[in-house]
Amino acid sequence: MKKDKKYVAVITGASSGIGLATAKMLMSKGVVVYGLAYNDFDAEFNYSKCDVTNIAQIEATLKSIFDKEGQIDFLVNCAGMGISGSVENSPQEQIQKIYNVNFFGTVNMCKAVLPYMRKNNFGHIVNISSVAGELPIPFQTFYSATKASIESFTAGLSMEVKPFGIKAVCVLPGDTKTGFTAAREKNTTDDASYGARVNNSVGQMEKDEQNGMTPESVAKVICKALFKKNPKPINVVGFKYKLFLLLAKILPKRFAYWVLYKMYAQKN
Ligand SMILES: NC(=O)c1ccc[n+]([C@@H]2O[C@H](COP(=O)([O-])OP(=O)(O)OC[C@H]3O[C@@H](n4cnc5c(N)ncnc54)[C@H](OP(=O)(O)O)[C@@H]3O)[C@@H](O)[C@H]2O)c1
Repeated sequence: MKKDKKYVAVITGASSGIGLATAKMLMSKGVVVYGLAYNDFDAEFNYSKCDVTNIAQIEATLKSIFDKEGQIDFLVNCAGMGISGSVENSPQEQIQKIYNVNFFGTVNMCKAVLPYMRKNNFGHIVNISSVAGELPIPFQTFYSATKASIESFTAGLSMEVKPFGIKAVCVLPGDTKTGFTAAREKNTTDDASYGARVNNSVGQMEKDEQNGMTPESVAKVICKALFKKNPKPINVVGFKYKLFLLLAKILPKRFAYWVLYKMYAQKN
């Protein structure tokens, strides 16, 4: 970050939780912030209603920002949602929806912003994955899969755009206290063979999230990654989660999955 230089940031999911905290933090650092979200909301920064699954809407939104500002330096992809339930009983529409929002939403935003970043030979992109992308959570399997896809996508993208002065990295939050818990779409079609295990698992996760980190602590890591000349490809938030991921790398996969099974899937 150069002092006294103007920076323009676009943040998806800016109406709530991590996106909102990031928008406010960037604003406090003098960055010109454009927050996007699915619904209308009151904001102290520039705001646009923009569905990340709607490519025409994204392109029009980014064009109008670039036409006005002449630059888009930062993109932070926070828009996301959760679903829960067994793989066997998850409705196809719900699976497609979570991929459309979490994975393709991130892809759509990155594709649309790249021409503007390339024009100025500069851009930093932060995509929000999750610790659950590296440590898959049973009964939130599709959520974990979308987050793992984001990590792989971001790594490939970062190498493609490196010669254009563009960086793309991931931030991996662990449990964070936001509106995400209440917005999670629970699949209620699980039958007796899964039912109690799903409810216990998701109940545990909800408790962990509501006792989790503040969105501001995640926003701090996002801002750090945005302002660094050479940010780390993977930025895990919180000591506890860094330790979990380190252990999961060192220990045999079989053991890591056994621990996850005990925590989130075992039969009573
Ligand atoms: N909370 C956690 O424990 C946690 C942990 C790890 C990773 N994450 C990830 O962090 C990111 C932010 O989540 P959060 O916890 O801040 O959740 P949140 O408070 O529920 O915020 C989600 C945001 O995404 C927006 N959004 C949802 N669908 C959208 C769509 N189709 N188009 C545009 N915007 C859409 C929402 O907009 P509206 O309000 O208008 O619907 C909202 O602004 C997500 O990617 C989530 O997966 C969260």
